[in-house]
Amino acid sequence: MSEKIVSPNHLAMEKAARAIRSGGLVAIPTETVYGLAADATNGEAVARIFAAKGRPNFNPLISHVSSMEMAESLAVFSPMALELAERFWPGPLTLVLPKSKNCSVSDLATAGLDSIAIRAPSDVTARGLIEATKCPLAAPSANRSEQLSPTTAQHVADELGNKVDLILDGGPCQSGVESTVISLIGDQPTLLRPGALSRLEIEASTGPLAAPSGEIVSPGMMRRHYAPNAKLRLNVTKPESDEAYLGFGQTSFKVAANLSNSGDLIEAAANLFAMLRILDLQYGKIAIAPIPNEGLGEAINDRLNRAAV
Ligand code: TXA
Ligand code: MG
Repeated sequence: MSEKIVSPNHLAMEKAARAIRSGGLVAIPTETVYGLAADATNGEAVARIFAAKGRPNFNPLISHVSSMEMAESLAVFSPMALELAERFWPGPLTLVLPKSKNCSVSDLATAGLDSIAIRAPSDVTARGLIEATKCPLAAPSANRSEQLSPTTAQHVADELGNKVDLILDGGPCQSGVESTVISLIGDQPTLLRPGALSRLEIEASTGPLAAPSGEIVSPGMMRRHYAPNAKLRLNVTKPESDEAYLGFGQTSFKVAANLSNSGDLIEAAANLFAMLRILDLQYGKIAIAPIPNEGLGEAINDRLNRAAV
């Protein structure tokens, strides 16, 4: 058995909370599947989630909360959102809502979108860790990208044992499928991903749920992405005089911002969406330095390519 797997007693919970507060990764049980959790407000910690999973691109992640107070600090709740939260939280329902003005969750966790996915898990260990850290926890399923979602601590150890600080063992997950994801952005509530909570139960509150359309390819798969107004030029080693230059690593040109002075891809990923947003507000043309296409660089380039069309 992996020495990373620990029973969630008082000492282990304190250790897990310390790891989260210092930007580490902790695998947590939830009532759906095991999650790979980090402080959602810490961009570099969130970048480590993507690096550990080997995800090909930056899908937006769910922020897990332990109270309505925390939820309402991150997102704007309509009356329907409040009704759903009251009925189904804590539990396996994820709500996609408009981000609040002072939302502390990093732009990387929301993939630069104006919306945020939130859920309050019912699992006592997951809740306990959120309460102990007072941080919303960003947590995708704790598997390598493209692999099955883990439903035991051992599954997590097998795939990600060497990437996490700790695996809290809460026993086998109650439901074994991911949470149901509902979007309340737009005119009609939309079922983005079928999951552990059935459509019928939700429709009792919302009326008929729409199928995702247009920008969203298949349930749960976001194709919509952060699109700046500014014109982007990629792989630029020599910016024009009318372009704001977004650098990476050392450069002799004047930069408007630098994704990472030291050429660190984790730092660059953490800065990506936030820096693009700021530059987009100030400039009409942005030139971006080449990003090596390895590790998180692949995901960064994927996002940049989509943003540049
Ligand atoms: O049961 C679960 O939900 C598990 C446990 C660990 O909580 N988590 C999970 O996370 O399945 P993940 O990252 O594998 O799935 C998150 C889903 C993705 O389908 C993503 O596209 C969608 O939520 N999502 C997140 N933010 C979104 C947003 N702003 N708009 C639309 N969809 C969003
Ligand atoms: Mg998953």
